[in-house]
Amino acid sequence: MKTLRLKDGKADICRAAEILKNGGIVAIPTETVYGLAASAFDGDAIDKVFIAKGRPQDNPLIVHISDMEMLEDITCDVPNVLYTLAEKFWPGPLTLVLPCGDKVSKKVTAGLKTVAVRMPSSAVARDIIKETGLPLAAPSANISGSPSPTSAEHVLSDLDGKIDAVVMSENSRVGVESTVVTLSTNPPRLLRPGGVTAEQLKEFLPDLVLDSAVLAEPEKDKPVASPGMKYKHYSPKTKILLVEAKSDDFANFVNKEQNCGAICFSEDEKLLSVPHIVYGKADDDASQAAGLFEALRAADTLSAEKVYVHAPQKSGVGLAVYNRLIRAAGFEVIDL
Ligand code: TXA
Ligand code: MG
Repeated sequence: MKTLRLKDGKADICRAAEILKNGGIVAIPTETVYGLAASAFDGDAIDKVFIAKGRPQDNPLIVHISDMEMLEDITCDVPNVLYTLAEKFWPGPLTLVLPCGDKVSKKVTAGLKTVAVRMPSSAVARDIIKETGLPLAAPSANISGSPSPTSAEHVLSDLDGKIDAVVMSENSRVGVESTVVTLSTNPPRLLRPGGVTAEQLKEFLPDLVLDSAVLAEPEKDKPVASPGMKYKHYSPKTKILLVEAKSDDFANFVNKEQNCGAICFSEDEKLLSVPHIVYGKADDDASQAAGLFEALRAADTLSAEKVYVHAPQKSGVGLAVYNRLIRAAGFEVIDL
């Protein structure tokens, strides 16, 4: 199949919407990462998304809406706190797991009774949803297991020839996927950290708990609250190891290793004598999130046997960066 390259102006947004209304699949920009969109009501279109990504069928998708009226089409029995959270954090990088309505394809939810919903802050994404007039299910627009795409080039490098079109727009501002919180458990549970932080959420959800899979490997054969967390993720071909250390200890350790490279903070650069890629500043978690997936994609260009990544702080958006990195590293963490 030939993948159409579309721009992000009005005419091409209408073309993207036509393709989506006719059961096609289109990669769209969002503020977190690019998503691979299809109508949430069209099971055949959803099948195409799973096939293009090579995604396991038991991993449900997030449904994207452009306004609160669309929420009524896809959910039922919504708890009141949803409206407080929506008022504060939507549009934005927060996904809420809610009781699912009947119209949503079972393929979207992998048969669960809940549906994950978010309203993206990207104006292009919302315009595409509005023009299509349908809630759009959209996982990250990458091959399953590889780093999520933060640019149209990343999407094409994974999915060119496998999807109907890509709307080529700006790079994703946040750089990591949305925070996922389920409101369908008591207490509410943070399933995946992201651009909206646990600290911000606790102001409105004081009893919010972190799911154990956020910071540790889920136990084999035990059910997990968010199926996506049990799969290996975000991995370049080169082996990644995560190192928790101060800047000079990180550099001293890495400089002694053979055939290795590093993914580091800008502060580490002057101390390192091995090939490296900078992913952000040590004291700026937003910069780390914005640079993370580009750096992981570039890890293979270091021609190293192993790449050591300098771990971020586990607070604020740093928790999301850390969560992605332990998965990229297959949970191998070196604590110096
Ligand atoms: O920022 C994002 O969320 C991006 C952009 C495109 O919006 N999308 C994204 O989708 O990251 P995806 O499919 O890569 O991740 C969806 C996550 C998975 O971990 C999945 O298991 C979880 O959301 N999820 C979806 N529906 C769920 C449900 N009903 N209950 C629990 N977890 C759910
Ligand atoms: Mg993904």
